[in-house]
Amino acid sequence: MTDSDPVYQEAFRQLTEWLQEAEARGLREPQAATLSTCGADGRVTSRVVLVRRVEPKGLVFFTNSLSVKGRQLAENPRAALCYYWDETGQQIRVEGVAHPIAPEESDAYWETRPRDAQLGSAVSRQSEVLVSREAFIGEVLALEAELQGRPVPRPDHWFGYRLEPDHIEFFINRPARMHERTVYVKSPEGWRREWRYP
Ligand SMILES: Cc1cc2nc3c(=O)[nH]c(=O)nc-3n(C[C@H](O)[C@H](O)[C@H](O)COP(=O)(O)O)c2cc1C
Repeated sequence: MTDSDPVYQEAFRQLTEWLQEAEARGLREPQAATLSTCGADGRVTSRVVLVRRVEPKGLVFFTNSLSVKGRQLAENPRAALCYYWDETGQQIRVEGVAHPIAPEESDAYWETRPRDAQLGSAVSRQSEVLVSREAFIGEVLALEAELQGRPVPRPDHWFGYRLEPDHIEFFINRPARMHERTVYVKSPEGWRREWRYP
């Protein structure tokens, strides 16, 4: 079990410590990470998402499941997240399998979002062709008028995914290219830690 493995616990502790330090230093968008996904056709795509929760079970991000990334994850749940903070020269790479979280968990997060973000997500046909920005704004205003102040329902296709790690790497930029790489890898025998040439 990933959660109880002491080597995984060490990796998870380091992950949360680095994220907390990044927050404390006031780095811009420390939750932002590049998410790479790959569909059945083997084509790899990457984009930035906000990793909203970092839990022993995995890293949670929210998106539209009908988007390019959502469709790719439905075909192939393997995915990778990569954080990079220029200010500190740190990179964190996390690979694993991403599955939808429970609907109640997505509801709970949805309710914390500002209303304008809810409206935008409710209307957006993310990744599809948009005729004009005015069309999008018009759809948001139309939904707001229709709701007459009632709560914005979470669309069924908008939810969280939890990326359950099987590979976590911490990289620190050091002078003269003597960078440090600490890699945690899950295997059938359990988690192991190793260092790698930079
Ligand atoms: C800083 C930043 C944070 C973002 N956070 C999210 C996010 O949490 N969820 C999301 O769906 N898109 C997010 N986006 C937009 C995505 O990068 C991307 O444009 C969108 O999800 C569509 O990707 P796709 O067509 O490859 O599926 C973010 C973009 C930036 C620049």
